Amino acid sequence: MTSYKLVDFKTLGDDRGSLIAIEEGYNTPFAIKRVYYIFDTKKGVERGFHAHINLKQMCIAVKGSCTFILDNSKKKEEITLDNPNQGLFIEGLIWREMKKFSPDCVLVVLASEHYDESDYIRDYQKFKKEVENGKK
Ligand code: TYD
Repeated sequence: MTSYKLVDFKTLGDDRGSLIAIEEGYNTPFAIKRVYYIFDTKKGVERGFHAHINLKQMCIAVKGSCTFILDNSKKKEEITLDNPNQGLFIEGLIWREMKKFSPDCVLVVLASEHYDESDYIRDYQKFKKEVENGKK
């Protein structure tokens, strides 16, 4: 299954402020094995430039904003994350690039697997080939 979608999280708030809970099976469709966050990103930096074979991820700009370019090998789409109440869920062979990080951006990524370099495809032509092979 290859897909990505924006997920709206329910904001639980009162007059003290806001709170969002992420729960497996409720608003995130996988068991979370790893959490990492990207912050202090320098001006003009672009990251990512890879696809994953098996990994599922939920990406949340808990502060600030950044833009994802998502490419399924047929079409590319840009999605900007700029609100902690939205998550970008990605599964399957999607080439992703991230750019336009605001200086205050904290991008939290929830992942379905531990870090495993062998799950990465970092070569765009190889990514295209993998997508083609998957269709056969
Ligand atoms: P990298 O894959 O280059 O990040 P991005 O895709 O956002 O550009 O990761 C940067 C470094 O951090 C690289 O040496 C791998 C390491 N890393 C881990 O050790 N664990 C992790 O969970 C992640 C995501 C990266």
